Amino acid sequence: MTIFYHKFLRPLLFKLDPERAHDITCSLLGAAERFRFAKFLARSFFRTESNPIEIMGLSFPNYIGQAAGLDKNGRFPGISSSLGFGHIEVGTVTPKGQPGNPSPRLFRYPNFNALVNRMGFNNAGSKALAEQISKVYPKGKRLSPLGINIGKSKDTPLEQALEDYMTAFSDVARQADYIAINISSPNTADLRDLHQEKHLRPLLARIRSHNLAWATNNACSPVPCLLKISPDEDYNSLERIVSLALDCSFDGIIATNTSVYRDKTSHGVLFEKGGLSGMPIERCSTESIRFVAKLTNYKLPIIGVGGIFDRESALRKLDAGASLLQIYTALVYDGPNFPSKLANSLAYRKRQWS
Ligand code: FNR
Repeated sequence: MTIFYHKFLRPLLFKLDPERAHDITCSLLGAAERFRFAKFLARSFFRTESNPIEIMGLSFPNYIGQAAGLDKNGRFPGISSSLGFGHIEVGTVTPKGQPGNPSPRLFRYPNFNALVNRMGFNNAGSKALAEQISKVYPKGKRLSPLGINIGKSKDTPLEQALEDYMTAFSDVARQADYIAINISSPNTADLRDLHQEKHLRPLLARIRSHNLAWATNNACSPVPCLLKISPDEDYNSLERIVSLALDCSFDGIIATNTSVYRDKTSHGVLFEKGGLSGMPIERCSTESIRFVAKLTNYKLPIIGVGGIFDRESALRKLDAGASLLQIYTALVYDGPNFPSKLANSLAYRKRQWS
């Protein structure tokens, strides 16, 4: 499959505009999602060794998850889990559906194994996502846990961001095994300002109280909540963010989103404006993980994401303190065989952290 992808499929897809190639792939996966036989075939073809990882009260069949942004509207979570992903994060969704930024907004850099995107949270809205998930990937019938990543709408001022997160949270909580609070996409103006303490403290505190109230009303446990952070924060800022997450009893950190930094990674290439992902951000995202893990004495679960392309880069993140991993850009460059291949290459590694 790897050879087929590299020799035939990838050259065809790479002839197309990147977003068009993405849309066609997603439509095909979305169509396959409707057929049980397609999932059965994918499962047989992309077999993964069982390597259960128990954290946050959930059982993950392997280390490798699908990062947010790939399946924003939850069109094919069943197919993704059949490809071997040990968890799937859908979204980012916002309370109201929105078209995102004008095209072109997705760019490939094959020489760097990188992408730049400035999609701007194009999505169908949190209610639509919840409805879709209840149809295609209902709780109780899941091979792998499902995370739902939520954000604020483009036209919501920062001062009202809290309401957006509460609304999206209420819409999706019933369908989510965990919820990721996204404050780190660089393509929604001001969103990253939510890393500042004056915005972050009330946001995390309200999410916590909202979660507890939701659990009481629904006679169930609170949904595990993770904070997805940017790789561009300095260590002082990271220290404040982690301390706030701990104060507000957050269940974990997702490190990291895409980067707006270019100087250390670009080697003179003029990358487009937007969030850089893939190999050039591997180091900075791993260093964020290492710093957060040390700060929390390796006790707070961290999902490591950013530039994982092989077993070695995956191990670097696990050794730095990640409990689980996610990939996005490598899937574009290496194809559908990659998640199961990577998961199997890590199957016999003993877990070190919580
Ligand atoms: C993303 N990413 C992302 N993250 C997020 O929290 N919400 C989102 O909607 C998106 N959207 C998105 C679109 C595209 C086209 C890309 C390439 C990425 C970021 C993604 O989840 C991940 O954090 C980074 O891409 C780093 O991982 P990789 O790609 O280097 O494995």
